[in-house]
Amino acid sequence: MASARGLEESFRRFPRTRYLGSKRRLAPWIVGCTAGLDYETVLDVFGGTGSVAYAFKCAGKSVQYNDKLAFNHQVGVALIENGAVRLADREVDAIVSAADAAPEGGFIHSTFQGIYFTDDENRWLDGAAAAIHGIPRRYPRALAWNALFQAALAKRPYNLFHRKNLYMRQADVRRGFGNKATWDRSFESHFRAAARSANAAVFDGGAACRATRGDALSLEGGFDLVYIDPPYVSGSGVGVDYRDFYHFLEGLVEFDGWGGRIDRYSKHLRLTRETDPWSSPNTCAESLRRLIERFGHSHLVVSYRNDGIPSIDDIAAMVRRCKRHVRVEMLAHRPYALSTNRRSRETLIVGWD
Ligand SMILES: C[S@@+](CC[C@H](N)C(=O)[O-])C[C@H]1O[C@@H](n2cnc3c(N)ncnc32)[C@H](O)[C@@H]1O
Repeated sequence: MASARGLEESFRRFPRTRYLGSKRRLAPWIVGCTAGLDYETVLDVFGGTGSVAYAFKCAGKSVQYNDKLAFNHQVGVALIENGAVRLADREVDAIVSAADAAPEGGFIHSTFQGIYFTDDENRWLDGAAAAIHGIPRRYPRALAWNALFQAALAKRPYNLFHRKNLYMRQADVRRGFGNKATWDRSFESHFRAAARSANAAVFDGGAACRATRGDALSLEGGFDLVYIDPPYVSGSGVGVDYRDFYHFLEGLVEFDGWGGRIDRYSKHLRLTRETDPWSSPNTCAESLRRLIERFGHSHLVVSYRNDGIPSIDDIAAMVRRCKRHVRVEMLAHRPYALSTNRRSRETLIVGWD
């Protein structure tokens, strides 16, 4: 495995993201915690931004990135599976030209008026999404999606799609938070910048990597090491439903039939809700227990915070049922710049035989 410094060095190429629960700041530490284990193949079950999968890739491992959401899968394809292809300047120009020239009255323009983006931005998004859907090659298309998602997240208050709150961007008030300059920067400018940083992150780690889209509990086994970073459920029982927070990006990727999947009773036009066992305090612990058991033959590495449901002791006990050795590592400092919770600590539970 690469030295700790070598890993930190190559990981620096990983693009900055605005994603809830991203382990970007922790990924080299997480991979470093596995240094004493013997393994070549890794499954990242809840891939998200791909930060941890990317750190494993930097360490020369053969990684399978997985996430249930279609938009995250595209990020995994762009940055983990893809080892060589970059989005050419002419492809970026073609997407921007198509977006600039898009007529009014497209699906986003006519459906999401006044909810997340301005009318002109919605028109631009209609054009950009159509152009990206038309890219025939898998890796340039995934890189273009990644850039569009990063642009859309940058322009959203809280970087989420959980509320109809375009007014926050437009109100003429003094703000104690947020970044109006970033929100008001054009889609084109964000898109071009995100395409450049994703291009800079493309590399071949020397071992085959791939990206899948699947439900955690239906993935097939056979990996030397399995990394598990499930959605966090707080001690008071509040869980993160990622599909609910990022439904707009999911709609962009699965554009056909988007209108039919929208919950028209919700003010912010989210997708119709699906049951999510990982975001409920009643079912998340049992789901984790089943997942750990499913991959009980692999080295197990689980990320969680020390103030959630289930507790770290409960998770360690689940791992201990399958593994002879269990180690609990706790990060000394808080990695979340905006977090006000001083007691919350990122924790890693490592199990091996
Ligand atoms: C805590 S985040 C992972 C963050 C990731 N490690 C990173 O650094 O960006 C949890 C992820 O689990 C995904 N997810 C939620 N339910 C899932 C399921 N049933 N199967 C697979 N992935 C799921 C979400 O889309 C989200 O990206």
